[in-house]
Amino acid sequence: MSSHNGHDNRFLAKMRGIMEQESSKRIVPNTRIILGITGGIAAYKAAELARLLIKQGVEVQVVMTEAACHFITPTTMQGLSGKPVYTDQWDASVPNSMAHINLSRAADAIVIAPASGDFIAKLAHGLADDLLSTLCLARACPLIIAPAMNREMWLNAATQRNIAQLRADGVQILGPDSGIQACGEEGMGRMLEAQQLAQDIMVFFQPGLLSGKKILVTAGPTYEAIDAVRGITNRSSGKMGYAITQAALEQGAEVVLVSGPTALVKPHGAQGVNVESAAQMLDAVKRHVAGCDIFIGVAAVADYRVAQPSAQKIKKSANTLTLELLPNPDILAYVASLPKPPYCVGFAAESENLADYAEQKRRAKKLPLLVGNLAQQAIGSDDNELVLFDDGGSHALPRADKLTLARQLMQHIAQRITGEQR
Ligand code: CTP
Repeated sequence: MSSHNGHDNRFLAKMRGIMEQESSKRIVPNTRIILGITGGIAAYKAAELARLLIKQGVEVQVVMTEAACHFITPTTMQGLSGKPVYTDQWDASVPNSMAHINLSRAADAIVIAPASGDFIAKLAHGLADDLLSTLCLARACPLIIAPAMNREMWLNAATQRNIAQLRADGVQILGPDSGIQACGEEGMGRMLEAQQLAQDIMVFFQPGLLSGKKILVTAGPTYEAIDAVRGITNRSSGKMGYAITQAALEQGAEVVLVSGPTALVKPHGAQGVNVESAAQMLDAVKRHVAGCDIFIGVAAVADYRVAQPSAQKIKKSANTLTLELLPNPDILAYVASLPKPPYCVGFAAESENLADYAEQKRRAKKLPLLVGNLAQQAIGSDDNELVLFDDGGSHALPRADKLTLARQLMQHIAQRITGEQR
């Protein structure tokens, strides 16, 4: 993966510090970001980045260099951001001719994505010969850059010197990543994908309620082999467990995600462990549970496995086929019954009598918190509706997308944990 992964935790912690020093206001809702686009083929990814940030409720003001306009049009960015795009330092429509001051004072952060080698050189030397470089120089807020260039340009001693200078100046650098480049060469210099950048950027604006906490999450279905090609599984998509992982990362937690087979991409920053069967999931959980503060069992673990799976494909030979099934270990119950268990959160998908069944499960497994949902509303869908059951009673989280619900759930858990530690 990218070279910046090793810097993530230090970077995020440092970033929060910088945000707190440079801005006394809480910037979670109504966050305003200047998205600066410079000239490079990765400029097309800035369109997706703007869309993702806006979807998260961020107000995005786009500023483009002249070179950027050769790669993506201001019209596209205006359409996506819903605001006029600034490209010109000498824009006569700005009444006081102080676009650089007005814009940078109104921003909570400036994000340059992509940041070309040329623009990085300008930043490193404090040049201010166009609107974007001028507002970077005039800023009173954090500056985050996502470099994007050919691998030789990235490795060039001048670029490396400039990057080192920017780091020393407190500029935050996301990426670059390595991989196939637009020029056909392969190596370090690709801009991080928009999804990853949006996630990294959002982390800065969260209050970090779970920073320093270790969280273990199970997600997705399990797959219990019948033979070499067939198995028993279920329709869990893994979306809720992955959304919870992302929400926990956003709050500054360290997350291990033990996942059954899904089609999802592991949220950036989580440690992923891929498993198939319930037995493998239990093994992975045993390996990672030590030192965990919170365990969240979101996986739809198969209750039974095939007693004797066949190593070879079973041939059609009779009119009926009987499979003997054995009960699987209960992973959540195992963790909850450890001598010093982490704070355990279970999920219950019910098709009826949600409140009764969920509360029964919570007591049976001795869980401080159980999250109930209706199976028919949840499976495979992007939206859900949750009810949280704990010693304080029940608490409904109304219908919303799974990431929004996951964020509310993580806030609830953070409150409970802080309450218990007091
Ligand atoms: N769970 C687990 N290991 C299992 C079974 C379930 O860790 N072998 C966890 C799930 O991740 C979830 C919760 O337990 O957090 C679900 O509880 P459970 O009673 O097993 O739910 P169902 O399987 O839905 O139970 P039932 O089929 O009886 O409704």
